[in-house]
Amino acid sequence: MDIKYNLKPASERRTEQFTPEGNVGFGKLRTDHMFLMDYRDGQWCDPRIVPYGPFEMAPGAMTLHYGQSIFEGAKAFMHDDGEIYTFRLNMNAQRMNRSADIVCIPNIDEQMQLDAINALIDVDRNWFPMQEGACLYIRPFIFATEDRLSVSPSQQYTFCVMLSPSGAYYSSGGVNEGIRLLITTKFHRAVSGGTGASKAAGNYAASLRAGKAAAEYGAAQVLYLDANNQQIEEVGAMNHFHILKDGTIIIPKFTDTILQSITSKSILELGDMLGCEVRQETVMLDKFIADIESGEIIEAGGFGTAAVVSPVTSYIFEDHRVITVGDGKVGPHIQKIYKVFTDIQKGLTQGPEGWVKRV
Ligand code: PLP
Ligand code: COI
Repeated sequence: MDIKYNLKPASERRTEQFTPEGNVGFGKLRTDHMFLMDYRDGQWCDPRIVPYGPFEMAPGAMTLHYGQSIFEGAKAFMHDDGEIYTFRLNMNAQRMNRSADIVCIPNIDEQMQLDAINALIDVDRNWFPMQEGACLYIRPFIFATEDRLSVSPSQQYTFCVMLSPSGAYYSSGGVNEGIRLLITTKFHRAVSGGTGASKAAGNYAASLRAGKAAAEYGAAQVLYLDANNQQIEEVGAMNHFHILKDGTIIIPKFTDTILQSITSKSILELGDMLGCEVRQETVMLDKFIADIESGEIIEAGGFGTAAVVSPVTSYIFEDHRVITVGDGKVGPHIQKIYKVFTDIQKGLTQGPEGWVKRV
């Protein structure tokens, strides 16, 4: 791919490695540049890296009306050799195309996506935040730009990649502090045949009302059930998991209402390194609650790129009943999963072949 570079003058861009003073937070900061590529006349064209800034868009751009927009989330880490490494970026590129299929957006060749992201990180590498636990969060997204008001797939799109020097996603929580989830029967994230298995922007707009309800219950987020309120599905920005007293990690089986988390898939492949069985199964709510109450389930949490491994130490129901997982503290299994997983990302432990790639 022949990328055009229109970079900020050296005097206006970061020339020294970013050493933030306070906690960088999640998703707040931007780097100097972004990658753009357009789709018109049936092909992706004009790949370019330009200063980060506003888009010019027609008020009739179809993304603004009908939400034809998808995104990805990935991370890059600095290893001890001072180089930046992406984590399983090929999986994000593949999932971008699965999401694209679900909302009728044309695919982008996987290698093109990888080249775009690597070129952008290379240009803005000084923005890597030198702070414990921080990363460069990578946000690729595609949106419909055609100026037309009929409800049909747009004929024009823009693919953009932006970067955000970031730390932990949940302001409370992180692996040292558990969060509470609201188990909701009123709100549903997805139904079979819908867009739940994609990272369609509309899925996240639809989750905001449930997020507000969660906050009213003092919970960080909701845990969604299937449309019949019988099975555990996932959280708005992470998959769910629980751990049995024999150490087995259980992740709800992927259906077309659950996003196939790259973090979950990674944990499923790390059983040997974690020293336990990791499997997927249908998780029935009634049994899940009974198993927490009987002590059969000892830990629970969520997996996601932004959320990493987030322990859930209690659940609240819409009738305000609360159940506590284990002793209500972050357990040793979750701490181990977090350490093994993040050590691989940071290059402190050798993970499976090809998981980390140098930019
Ligand atoms: N589920 C949803 C709805 C998400 O938005 C995310 C975040 O991307 C995840 C799960 C976790 O997926 P991953 O581990 O690939 O980030
Ligand atoms: C991610 O984990 O990368 C996500 O995309 C979740 C996001 C909604 C913050």
